[in-house]
Amino acid sequence: MSKIKKVAGWGGVAVIAVVVAGAIASWQPEIPALKTPGSQTFSTAQIEQGRKLADLGDCAVCHTRAGGERNTGGLAMEIPFGTIYTTNITPDVETGIGKWSFDAFKRAMRLGVDREGHYLYPAFPYTAFTRTSDADLEALYAYLMSQPAVKYQPPETALNFPFNIRQGIVTWNWLFLQPGPMDTDTHQSAEWQRGAYLTEGLGHCSACHSPRNLMFGEKGGEDHLTGGVAEEWTAPSLVANSDAPLNWSHEDLVTFMHRGYSANHGVAAGPMAPVVNEGLSQLPPEDLNAIATYLTSFQRGDKTAGTADKLNQQTETHVEPLTSEGARLFSGACMACHAQEKGAQMVGVRPSLALNTNLYAATPDNAIRVILDGIQNPAKTDLGFMPAFRHNLSDAQIAVLLNYLREEYAGKTPWPELQKRVTEVRAETERK
Ligand code: HEC
Ligand code: HEC
Ligand code: HEC
Repeated sequence: MSKIKKVAGWGGVAVIAVVVAGAIASWQPEIPALKTPGSQTFSTAQIEQGRKLADLGDCAVCHTRAGGERNTGGLAMEIPFGTIYTTNITPDVETGIGKWSFDAFKRAMRLGVDREGHYLYPAFPYTAFTRTSDADLEALYAYLMSQPAVKYQPPETALNFPFNIRQGIVTWNWLFLQPGPMDTDTHQSAEWQRGAYLTEGLGHCSACHSPRNLMFGEKGGEDHLTGGVAEEWTAPSLVANSDAPLNWSHEDLVTFMHRGYSANHGVAAGPMAPVVNEGLSQLPPEDLNAIATYLTSFQRGDKTAGTADKLNQQTETHVEPLTSEGARLFSGACMACHAQEKGAQMVGVRPSLALNTNLYAATPDNAIRVILDGIQNPAKTDLGFMPAFRHNLSDAQIAVLLNYLREEYAGKTPWPELQKRVTEVRAETERK
């Protein structure tokens, strides 16, 4: 045997040894099945506490498919390697989590491992949920086990090779999961700490609002909450580098989370609408205040609300005269709802486009999506609906209109190659 072969041989043995050691180190036992604890096992207060935590964690947003019963799973989450289906988290014994003990549930939330010991895909945001305290996990468990048990077997998740090998997630977890409850920062107020706990834990804001690396791990440190992507929408930065023309004040942020709308910013549409509708708007005021205290502590600079009036006046004065094609398109298609004349009565809110972060953003995607598809699922129905313009405006018209709004209202240089991007987004959204 030549020397090279020998070395290669030993290399192979070494690789196998490492793989075996890794498999042993990562092996998670099955946690024995348990008779479903009935709701009488838990106190009403604990179940109610768990319900609020489930709202904050958006459990039902992901674990309910369109038209399906609450928390029975089956929602398809498309990722580049295939489709992941959410699971049934009602206490049904066969198709849900009826056999799960508290320890099994806690392990899923802290380590992303199911009762039988399989690794779960990080589409389930356990990297954030792991921060939850034992007491809150107990309350969540109490709530989940007290729901009606509904028999429904969601479709099987089937990803392409090698992503279908769940054991591979071990490596990902090793890089991106820091298991365990939140560290306390004793330099900060109790309210700030509570806010950090809610935002970084069950609230999992960073799952959408932080950028991700090539391995789909959240970028941390200075990149934390600096803006990310969610279902192909841009989730704007929530910290110092925000594109919003005004700083987020405590009051604006609380109103936005509660109502899905803030007069100084705009509406929560796209994937943010259900986060508000089913999650944040259900929270008690003290929790919203805590989240706002935490998040506004990262605002920098002096983009103050004093400029809001000025920006709004700009919207008023710029509707006439109709010297450009952009102005004419705006006047024909949008002004009825989006001009700020005083005293006009319209159904719903009339978000000021001069203050809309999406017009200031580096990418035009959210604005394009809103024009193409309108807003059919508002965060709250009293905000009103916006009609879709997919069939009324051409790609060229949408590009002219959007760059008109960007230049006139936001005072920004036009987005380059905008029409091309409109065509691409139209094609992407048509396929759905
Ligand atoms: C962003 C979407 C999303 C949110 C929000 C979410 N989940 Fe999930 N969850 C998933 C997906 C996807 C899976 C399946 C992962 C897999 O198959 O590997 C899952 C799996 C689970 C499992 C494992 C169930 C099983 O049978 O293996 C539990 C338990 C669970 N989620 C509980 C919760 C709870 C409790 C909440 C709210 C606090 C929640 N999830 C919020 C997406 C989500
Ligand atoms: C499922 C993904 C997702 C999650 C989870 C999520 N967001 Fe969002 N968020 C978005 C998207 C997308 C937008 C842009 C919506 C739009 O343009 O209408 C947004 C917009 C916002 C805005 C408005 C920003 C601006 O400048 O206009 C705020 C504030 C916000 N989110 C706060 C939060 C907080 C706080 C949490 C956690 C409690 C959270 N979000 C969780 C996706 C998400
Ligand atoms: C029939 C009334 C109506 C018309 C016409 C209309 N909008 Fe809207 N628009 C709304 C309402 C209402 C909202 C807020 C909806 C919500 O979130 O519930 C909105 C929201 C928006 C937003 C904010 C989206 C976000 O996610 O932050 C933008 C941008 C926007 N409209 C642009 C336009 C443009 C451009 C036109 C013209 C092509 C237009 N709208 C025409 C009613 C309208």
